[in-house]
Amino acid sequence: MQTIFVTGGAGFIGSALIRLLIAESDWRIVNIDKLTYAGNLESLAEFADHPRHVFSRSDICDRAAMDDLFAAYQPAGVIHLAAESHVDRSIHGPGDFIDTNISGTYTLLEAARAWWSALDAEAKAAFRFHHVSTDEVFGSLGDTGLFVETSPYQPNSPYSASKAASDHLVRAWHHTYGLPTVITNCSNNYGPCQFPEKLIPLMIHNAVSDKPLPIYGNGDNVRDWLYVDDHARALRLVFEQGVPGETYNIGGHNEKTNLEVVDTLCALLDELKPRHDGRSYRTQKISVADRPGHDKRYAIDATKIQRELGWTPQESFESGMRRTVLWYLENPAWVAHVVSGEYRQWMDRNYGDRQ
Ligand code: NAD
Ligand code: TYD
Repeated sequence: MQTIFVTGGAGFIGSALIRLLIAESDWRIVNIDKLTYAGNLESLAEFADHPRHVFSRSDICDRAAMDDLFAAYQPAGVIHLAAESHVDRSIHGPGDFIDTNISGTYTLLEAARAWWSALDAEAKAAFRFHHVSTDEVFGSLGDTGLFVETSPYQPNSPYSASKAASDHLVRAWHHTYGLPTVITNCSNNYGPCQFPEKLIPLMIHNAVSDKPLPIYGNGDNVRDWLYVDDHARALRLVFEQGVPGETYNIGGHNEKTNLEVVDTLCALLDELKPRHDGRSYRTQKISVADRPGHDKRYAIDATKIQRELGWTPQESFESGMRRTVLWYLENPAWVAHVVSGEYRQWMDRNYGDRQ
């Protein structure tokens, strides 16, 4: 049984990736997560005692802890997702983004390099450091055009600047030291277990809680939405088959304005959980002050990963959104525990001895 590290495995995408890897691969996963406000082991409740899921509550900025983990578990590779991930938080307080996304990635790269340097030639060639990044590093598009792997980096927010810096570090560790790295840059994800500060889960939660649906500015900013399980499938493919030194863009060809997204959610909720007074959830929409420096449009050209690795998304926007709304309606306890903070106590009860 071979081991891989997944950093940030208690987060939204990391937990989806671990679900996929346990269901469809033979990897043993060491899930390395500091459990910030965004880390929620309730998303992995079914794997609390799974023999192929080991949880370590550790900070990627802690070099000694990372060295100990490499020595203890001798991984064949790392899929690195741990990050501060919310643009609005990065605007209000960029410090944690610099620490985790830049210094943490540097620390993890150095720990991986120390471990990898001592391997024999065959294990060295097989090792992978997969850095999971975002399309936001490329900045903002106008009305036309798509991000390709060679698009220039023009990050605009503290979040995207910190991710861009980490991409450059990973690239340099490959170029300078020969560490076998791959980088993926993905568009906006949505699906189950996303923290309700991001657009889609926030809107679902506010709608059914009879709260306003706050649309930044006039709502015509465009994002290219990808269902999280499609991202997880792409990550597995790139980790196992990607070429060292390469980067791959991942996206769903689902460009939507924020208003279109919110209207789609309202229509699904009108059908699946009609408001008590018979009016549409659309009536809860309000316009609020725009985000400073708000990127206008993101859109991904995913031709390379399709051509070279055979990946295409399985969910359409319509099917993925329906799945997502149904998941939130069927799992009110997950959201309620996040909102009340009770997920922390759940983690202490179920993982307390392993933290
Ligand atoms: P998330 O905020 O849901 O999860 C991040 C996880 O990292 C949390 O479990 C948190 O506890 C952990 N973490 C934070 N700081 C840490 C530290 N110092 N040490 C160890 N663990 C730490 O984020 P997400 O949406 O799942 O995103 C995962 C990755 O994918 C990030 O690197 C993000 O930049 C990237 N990404 C996200 C999206 C998206 O739409 N969400 C799109 C493209 C790329
Ligand atoms: P978000 O989910 O924060 O992702 P990102 O900023 O990384 O793209 O936001 C998605 C879009 O939705 C973005 O254009 C900002 C907008 N938005 C709102 O209009 N209202 C909200 O309450 C939130 C959280 C986001």
